[in-house]
Amino acid sequence: MNHNPERREIAIYSREELCGDYFILWIWDDELSKISNPGQFFEIRAHSSLHDAWDSQRIPKLFKPISVYDNSGGRIGFFIKNVGPGTSALARLKAGDTLELIGPLGNGFPIVKGRRVLFLSGGIGYPPLSYLQKELINHNLIFWSHGGASSADVFPCDEVWTVDGSFGKQGMVTEGMADLLLSKKIDLVYSCGPGSMLKQAAQIAAAHGIEHYTSMEAYMACGIGVCHGCAVPVGTDEDWTYLRVCKEGPVFNAADVLWSEL
Ligand SMILES: Cc1cc2nc3c(=O)[nH]c(=O)nc-3n(C[C@H](O)[C@H](O)[C@H](O)COP(=O)(O)OP(=O)(O)OC[C@H]3O[C@@H](n4cnc5c(N)ncnc54)[C@H](O)[C@@H]3O)c2cc1C
Ligand code: FES
Repeated sequence: MNHNPERREIAIYSREELCGDYFILWIWDDELSKISNPGQFFEIRAHSSLHDAWDSQRIPKLFKPISVYDNSGGRIGFFIKNVGPGTSALARLKAGDTLELIGPLGNGFPIVKGRRVLFLSGGIGYPPLSYLQKELINHNLIFWSHGGASSADVFPCDEVWTVDGSFGKQGMVTEGMADLLLSKKIDLVYSCGPGSMLKQAAQIAAAHGIEHYTSMEAYMACGIGVCHGCAVPVGTDEDWTYLRVCKEGPVFNAADVLWSEL
């Protein structure tokens, strides 16, 4: 894609409260909507003018990577979990406040037709798959398994796992994956979540010879391909290189990632 993202300031159209620490910020922008695809993300932060003196001592200057959760007819949604300084600054925003953003960034998921698809998400890996589901739903059979730490981390899907057993099946979401591949006759997996979950999912999909695209997590400094702080190893033990999650990713063919080094 030739799009060259610039930093923009956009007013928040509306804000939606979800369970626990989760919330959604909605913006309207026809141009960004037309060029955003499932799996892409924006670097976003609360506009600096909104921070009071107390905040400005504590709130990081860095933008934070946030996936496109929904995108339809100009309306773009960001589904966010308040986990630290950057997201807690975003959590204080309300309709009419200004969001600073750069994007859309990275390469998204391949769009397919006529496949039997498994979605596997963990925690805040849910939002990009939600957008992808809307793009795939009319042309594929999709089964969605989602895992979270507790009942505060679960969202609409076909099967839920929680680590503490407070909702759905108890355990890690990957525990049910091999059975689903067989029982649902899955021929393609999309995953997004914590690195340890993606690594397990990659091993299980590979053992069954099933194509698998995964959206990788990484701590990002610049978010635009300059600092190389988000690089992950791809290739084989004999012939490998680094690719940047923010530029060549965040979506990779899981078979290309050198999981033994992660
Ligand atoms: C491509 C991409 C898309 C993302 N999309 C979303 C999204 O749609 N919604 C959303 O809420 N978050 C998303 N994230 C995660 C979000 O960017 C991070 O949680 C971010 O670091 C939060 O910033 P913070 O300043 O609030 O907290 P930080 O101070 O950065 O982190 C707070 C806590 O979370 C832990 N943490 C932060 N990031 C990670 C990580 N990548 N892996 C493991 N632990 C981590 C830290 O160790 C720390 O304990 C995405 C990340 C990437 C790379
Ligand atoms: S975060 Fe700087 S290159 Fe990816």
